[in-house]
Amino acid sequence: MNRQLHLVRGTVLHFLRDPGPTDDASACEFFEDGGLLIEAGHVSAVGDWDRVAALLEPEARAHAQLHDYRGHLILPGLVDTHIHYPQVGVLGSFGRQLIDWLTEYTFPAETAFSDPAVAHQCAEFVVRRMLAHGTTTASVFATVHPHSVDAFFEAASHFDLRMLCGKVMMDRNCPDSLRDTAVSAEHDSRALIERWHGHGRLRYTLTPRFAPTSTPQQLDVAGALYAAWPDLHVQSHLAENKREIEWVRELFPDRRSYLDVYAHHGLIGPRTIYGHCVHLDEAERKWMADTQTAAAFCPTSNLFLGSGMFDYGAAREAGMAVGLATDVGGGTSFSLIRTLGEAYKVSQFCAQPLAPLSAWYLATLGGARALGLDRFIGNFVAGKEADFVVLDLHATEELAWRISHASTLAERLFALQTLGDERCVVATHAMGRPVFRRD
Ligand code: GUN
Ligand code: ZN
Repeated sequence: MNRQLHLVRGTVLHFLRDPGPTDDASACEFFEDGGLLIEAGHVSAVGDWDRVAALLEPEARAHAQLHDYRGHLILPGLVDTHIHYPQVGVLGSFGRQLIDWLTEYTFPAETAFSDPAVAHQCAEFVVRRMLAHGTTTASVFATVHPHSVDAFFEAASHFDLRMLCGKVMMDRNCPDSLRDTAVSAEHDSRALIERWHGHGRLRYTLTPRFAPTSTPQQLDVAGALYAAWPDLHVQSHLAENKREIEWVRELFPDRRSYLDVYAHHGLIGPRTIYGHCVHLDEAERKWMADTQTAAAFCPTSNLFLGSGMFDYGAAREAGMAVGLATDVGGGTSFSLIRTLGEAYKVSQFCAQPLAPLSAWYLATLGGARALGLDRFIGNFVAGKEADFVVLDLHATEELAWRISHASTLAERLFALQTLGDERCVVATHAMGRPVFRRD
C-alpha cells in the first residue's frame, strides 16, 4: 500500500453538512492558513496549518511530501453526478431539443464507439479533462458497447480515481447499431460488474438510458440486478423534457407517472440518481426524498436543450438528495465552477437564489451524498479519501479585481462561481497525489 505522507498548506474549506436555506456558516470549516495531513491516501488531519504541521515528528516530516498552495483555495474534489463521456464530440451542437438532439447528434456519435480504439482515445481524453477541471469523481454514462466501460474504467484506474460508470441499456427506439436486448444487457452488465465493481475505487452503475429506450423486460433486468447485488448504483434520466414525458405516458399507459415507471421496475432507492428531474410535482419530489432517490441538477444542459428550470429550492425543501452535474454533451462545459454559475441563474427564476455556501456544498459533499459515496469522499473528515482541488481566485484579472473588493468568505465564493472557470484550477489531487497541475 502507498504509505506516502502528504502535508498540504493553503486556504482550506470543506462542508460537514448542508448549509440549508439560510446558508448556515456552521455547516463548513474554513482555515485561512490551513493544512491537510494525508497518510496512505486518506485524510488524517485538517485544521489550522500550525496545528496540523505540529502533528508530524521531525523525522516523519522529513519524509512527507510538502505541497505549498499558500494563497490558493483547497476544496474537496468536485463531484459531477451525471456526464456522458462519449458525447464530448457533440458538445455544442446547434438548435435541437432532447429527442431530435439524441437522434441527430448523440446516437451517431455513440455508434462510433463500436470501435474500441475510439472508446479508449475518448476515455483518456475525458478523464484528463475532468481532472483539469477539478473533477475527481463522476457518475458516467458509457455507450451500449461493454468495451466502452472498460475503456473508461481503465483510464480512471490509471489515476486511481473514485468513479462510477455503466454500460447503457437500450433495447428499443434507437438505431439498430446501438440496440441491445434484455438478455444481452443482463449478460454484459453482469460481466462488467464482476470485472469492475469494487475494483480499486471503481464502482458499477446500472445504466438504463431512460424509460423510452428500454422495454419493461429490460427495466426488470436492471431492477433485479440492483436488488441482487450489494452496493450497486443506478443512473438514468427522468422528466427532462415535455415531449419526452408525453412519450413515456404513451409507452407506459398503466403507470401513474414517469417516476412510477422506474419505481414499478424496482429502480428507485439508495444509490439511484436521475438526471434532470425538471418537471416533477410535489408528490414526486416527496416520493424521491422518502426513497433516497437522488436528482442530478444539470443547469447548462437544461438551458442548452431548452428543457426547463430545475427547482433546487423545492427539491431541498422536499428533502431530496441533489448533486450538481455537467451532463456533457447536452451540457456545455466540463467545469463544475461554470455549472454553479448557471445553477445560480436558474435558481433566480425559481425565486430561491442558490446561496454561495450551498452552492459549493452541492459541488462537493452534496454530490457525494447524492451518489451514495459520502462515506468515501466529499469532505476532509479524517479517514476519507484525500481527493482535492486547488483553486486560484486571481486566475483572471476580473476575478482578482472582484476578489480584492470582497470582504466575506461568502462573497469570495460567490465571485468564484460567477466569474471563475477551469482557468482557476491550479492542481488536482487524488488519494493525496497530484493528478493534474497547470503547466
Ligand atoms: N435522455 C436520454 N438520453 C439522454 C442523453 O444522452 N442526454 C440527455 N441530456 N438526456 C437524455
Ligand atoms: Zn444525461
